Amino acid sequence: MRGGGFGPGAMMRGGIPGVWAQEKRDLTTPVPVLLRRLGAVLEDRKPIIWRALLAVALASALQMVPPYMTRIIVDEVIPRESRNLLPLILVALALVHAFRYGLLYISRVAIASVSQHLVYAMARVLFEHIQRLSLRFFEKQGTGEIISRATSDINILQQAMQGGVIQSAVGLLSMVAYAIVLLALDWKLALIVLTSVPLLVVASHVTSEMLRVRYIKVQERMSGVNAVLAENITGVRVAKAFARESEQSARFTDRNRANRDANMSTATVQAISGPLIQQVGVICTGLVLWVGAVRVGEGTMTIGTLVAFVSYMVTFFAPIEDLIRVNATIQQALASAERVFEFLDERPDIAEKPGAFDLGGDDTVHGHVRLEDVWFRYVPDKAVLRGVSIDAPPGTVVAVVGQTGSGKTSLVNLIPRFYDVERGRVTIDGRDVRDLTIASLRATIAVVLQETFLFSGTIRENIRYGRLDATDEEVEQAAREAHADGFILALPGGFDGSIGEAGVMLSRGQRQRLALARAILRDPRILVLDEATSDVDTETEILIQRALERVMRGRTVFVIAHRLSTIRSADLICVMSDGVIVERGTHDELLARAGAYRQLYEAQFQTVGSAPTPVAV
Ligand SMILES: Nc1ncnc2c1ncn2[C@@H]1O[C@H](COP(=O)(O)OP(=O)(O)OP(=O)(O)O)[C@@H](O)[C@H]1O
Ligand SMILES: [Mg+2]
Repeated sequence: MRGGGFGPGAMMRGGIPGVWAQEKRDLTTPVPVLLRRLGAVLEDRKPIIWRALLAVALASALQMVPPYMTRIIVDEVIPRESRNLLPLILVALALVHAFRYGLLYISRVAIASVSQHLVYAMARVLFEHIQRLSLRFFEKQGTGEIISRATSDINILQQAMQGGVIQSAVGLLSMVAYAIVLLALDWKLALIVLTSVPLLVVASHVTSEMLRVRYIKVQERMSGVNAVLAENITGVRVAKAFARESEQSARFTDRNRANRDANMSTATVQAISGPLIQQVGVICTGLVLWVGAVRVGEGTMTIGTLVAFVSYMVTFFAPIEDLIRVNATIQQALASAERVFEFLDERPDIAEKPGAFDLGGDDTVHGHVRLEDVWFRYVPDKAVLRGVSIDAPPGTVVAVVGQTGSGKTSLVNLIPRFYDVERGRVTIDGRDVRDLTIASLRATIAVVLQETFLFSGTIRENIRYGRLDATDEEVEQAAREAHADGFILALPGGFDGSIGEAGVMLSRGQRQRLALARAILRDPRILVLDEATSDVDTETEILIQRALERVMRGRTVFVIAHRLSTIRSADLICVMSDGVIVERGTHDELLARAGAYRQLYEAQFQTVGSAPTPVAV
């Protein structure tokens, strides 16, 4: 089902190509295309690859010497008792072997370096690419899937490279050389051997295809295992809180079992195909020995030639056996390459237009934000914003309030272009955000997300994320303004204390203030604040409130507000309900109107029957 045209959403999707999440498609890129793309990754390693190829080729050419020596021993040394040839042959054999191992050493080092570079280069390209993809990609692909492709699939490529791809490529070439030697030794016997080749080609082609299809499944199942694993580690607290460890284990076991079954299915194909192909070689050897024995009896062939012929024949078949051995790995690698390239082919749906306008720095941006009749949806059949218009002149504070799920976060996400509008437009200083360079757009805006995310590292590093070239003093100043310095200095290590992975060692209120410090450090013209619902104690609430006031001063602010004081001081309050702005005005105007805002206000901030009491001032 390439390209995906079925499913309930397909009909409604018309006209907006590339916006909706693509359905999963079957992976069936032709092998030459995959090889060419892999080759492109290794473009700058070509000299090393050639060195490896040459060393392997020479090493396999040297393999031709020993059977020839055997022939001399059988045909010359033994019948004529010319023992003085033996030391010479011994020395020659020893030298050939030493030389061969030297060459193999060179080739192995070269191959290891190329295959390690492959992992390095692919991981880097993939990481950089994924970073640029839009949020829709991350909604479509789970963490487990992404991590699987960035680690397990790339490692499989490396294993295939290291595990004999180059050797078998050379092996196939050296088969041609061996065929010539066999023909020269005895063309009639050689023909028996060569008739087996088409059989082998067909057999290995069929099994290759069978293996590749199965390996794609294996990697998909592996992603499934990783997905449950990733989810469980992130959600371990919830699992514990609800004592759901055994259910989680059951889910994991399901995926794990599916993965095992997929692996078994490839093992079965391998188990059948390997011996089957070897059987062809065995029958061939039998026929050659039979015909050869008759010919030696007739005196038309020497024993030495027959012995040498059989030795060469064994070496002739060796690359095929090698290929059967590494074929599984190669098929697996092709499946993995396809999965990695599939991600690399993803295009961000938030793309910059050619010749996009650079907003310039703070001195040129006024920060006039307008939303004009904006429509937006995540999934085809549910409009999340329906004709929203807001005008925010420079320096004004717009508060967006409304029930949960009414579309507040979705609305503010459109300003830094995390998503694109479906209809209407969002402008900054009169320019459509889709006409701006993404870098200059995002440099103008600081976003404090509803859920604060911190990176593992020190507090200082996390605040500096707002502006990488900030000095230590500026970082500390920002922390002071965000009223975060108090708790930071009380932590072991202070600013240089580590906060654990994703900030698990901090409380929610502390994380919020760090996020504010980040935004203060960035010093943006436009600020988008998605306030987390105030579930902190009154004292922290007051601290956050003060930090907010400081950070909002002199900027155009869109704030999704839950705190009464923020709402009251806003220049414009927009009340959202089900994707529409149902009321707008100042606090006093809206209270007087006795509409949706008043209801919300009474439900949230006022104890029934008493005078309005702000929760935090
Ligand atoms: N990534 C997404 N994919 C699909 N639907 C989404 C996505 N994010 C939000 N929605 C849906 O869009 C609607 C609006 O969500 P939004 O997050 O904007 O609400 P909100 O007003 O910010 O709510 P809250 O006050 O709880 O933060 C909801 O119905 C939600 O289910
Ligand atoms: Mg929200």
